[in-house]
Amino acid sequence: MTQGMRRGLTSYGDPDFSLFLRKAFIKAMGLSDDALSRPVVGIANTFSDYNACHGNVPKLVEAIKRGVMLAGALPMEFPTISIHESFAHPTSMFLRNLMAMDTEEMIRAQPMDAVVLIGGCDKTIPAQMMACASANVPTVIVPVGPMLVGNYQGEQLGACTDCRRLWGEHRGGRLDAQQIERINERLAPTPGTCMVMGTASTMACIVEVMGLALPRSATIPATHADRLRSAEASGQFAAAMAVNGTPRPSDLMTKASFRNAMVILQAIGGSTNALVHLTAAAGRLGLKIDLAEFDRLGREVPVLVDLKPSGRHYMEHFHWAGGLPRLMHELEGLLDLTTPTVMGGTLRDYMESAEDVPSQDVIRTRAAPINKAGSMAVLYGNLAPRGAIIKQSAASPELMVHTGRAVVFESVQDLTERIDDPALDVTADDVLVLRNAGPRGAPGMPEAGYLPIPRKLGEQGVKDMVRISDARMSGTAFGTIVLHVTPEAADGGPLGLVRNGDRIALDVPHRRIDLLVDEPELVRRRAQAAALPATGAPAPDRGYAALFHRTVLQADEGCDFDFLVPGRSGAP
Ligand code: FES
Repeated sequence: MTQGMRRGLTSYGDPDFSLFLRKAFIKAMGLSDDALSRPVVGIANTFSDYNACHGNVPKLVEAIKRGVMLAGALPMEFPTISIHESFAHPTSMFLRNLMAMDTEEMIRAQPMDAVVLIGGCDKTIPAQMMACASANVPTVIVPVGPMLVGNYQGEQLGACTDCRRLWGEHRGGRLDAQQIERINERLAPTPGTCMVMGTASTMACIVEVMGLALPRSATIPATHADRLRSAEASGQFAAAMAVNGTPRPSDLMTKASFRNAMVILQAIGGSTNALVHLTAAAGRLGLKIDLAEFDRLGREVPVLVDLKPSGRHYMEHFHWAGGLPRLMHELEGLLDLTTPTVMGGTLRDYMESAEDVPSQDVIRTRAAPINKAGSMAVLYGNLAPRGAIIKQSAASPELMVHTGRAVVFESVQDLTERIDDPALDVTADDVLVLRNAGPRGAPGMPEAGYLPIPRKLGEQGVKDMVRISDARMSGTAFGTIVLHVTPEAADGGPLGLVRNGDRIALDVPHRRIDLLVDEPELVRRRAQAAALPATGAPAPDRGYAALFHRTVLQADEGCDFDFLVPGRSGAP
């Protein structure tokens, strides 16, 4: 098989000349013929001044290169785009597919026998999973690792569950401007990803349990020396994969490993976003994430990890308690331990590497879980014919069965303008509804599903209400929040038919979300809506935005582009 610098030659009509030219240019970097004869390991550098979560990437690149060279291969660093949650307009999710395409095409375009992808901030590991599934070159994922915790007046602080909670306190008048400023300085005290069980931590756990990353690589803090040793070892394993040509992502990303990912997602109290990302990654390989199976697992798999936002602790505590390998012990019988890993063995090896930490209280036993049921439930009903998600482990138990009056917001903009209006007709028992915030409507399905409690209710001490939308929510958020209502309003979903004052019934135990309006009236409203002239912004007609608008799929298909999914329009 063609390896190293001979792979994927540039087309000049003469392969020998193509290689001659390639070597002539790369020798300008001072590389010797010996170096150029080695198997090549590409390293995707996702450092960016805009992405503090990836602040340790230069050090990781150095460590990975060391590992690759210790194993006798040639490391080749290359850039891809990098996405930070707070620096992506209109939302990071809008750019996830762009990063997936960039990464996939750079893996294909450049000569590499294996690749190491450094990811971390929420959309980066999902984009890399999608990319490596499609490129199918042997891949090791290196998560950047979580931040250390912050502290304010004796209380541990974590981005970004506490960002939202404390901002809510500020909005409610319980923290003044000076106090919230000081907190702002301490919420993210080091580089690394958010240290709660948000999307970044969840996706890092998922790639570890799927065998795409090394054991404990999800939890080692970003600033620890162990993080660099893990990166060095990742480079060594990638070099071995470059020589052997295996395992490929398609060997690792199987029906069984996706099922393991769903088990872990429930057990860690993971982010709702992970379900969309898993669906997208599986879709690249022609696999489906079965929401009904995910819901079934939720009834079987308890939440065992005591981390915010479902519990009390942070990622560094999870790490010192034994991390994923320890958790796998507690989940024995629920996980398929025969699935392969980048280290050449099986998931059982990861589990058996677990450290026993006698006094730890972060990873619970199945006899004493945080939540008997898993973290998420899938809801259906006349409001969500193709499903909706609720993170029940982060919701208020007293609101799990609730009927209330709808208070409707037409868009994120409308929400922003009216939510704090003192004249807004709203009570604590109402159901806040946000629409046109889905994959196509917003666009990009922003994390707007965490609708703020109206200021006047916040001031009365109201901390939670039932909230429903076709948007997503940050994995770090807390509340009784129904998300990913599918199909979205902008795609003709029934969320678009809700009117102020309608009654909405949420029944999580029976997995229902229903609009209590007669079917004939809904038919009438649907006909009326179809007859109305189109409102809102015109569809974009150029560039990435137009591509996004035309081809993005709904949440139950992972919000991927249709032409990137085998079997969908235009895809092979
Ligand atoms: Fe990057 Fe939270 S903002 S992981």
